[in-house]
Amino acid sequence: MRSIQDDLSDEVMCPCSGTTRGNIQKLFEEGLDIDAISRRTGAISGCAGCEWDIAQFLKELAILQQK
Ligand code: FES
Repeated sequence: MRSIQDDLSDEVMCPCSGTTRGNIQKLFEEGLDIDAISRRTGAISGCAGCEWDIAQFLKELAILQQK
């Protein structure tokens, strides 16, 4: 049985590149910033419609990391 967290990890945040929430979280945890994540995955380099959502997600991860 899959957990809720697994389901969120598989959520595609950037349909243009197929980048998932889990991909982004992994790269954030490796220390990459939004520009580096974009270069690595191709996210935010197509229509850029995902930029706000990915930026918000990275802010949330940064806040969680501080706790
Ligand atoms: S949805 Fe991410 S670049 Fe288009």
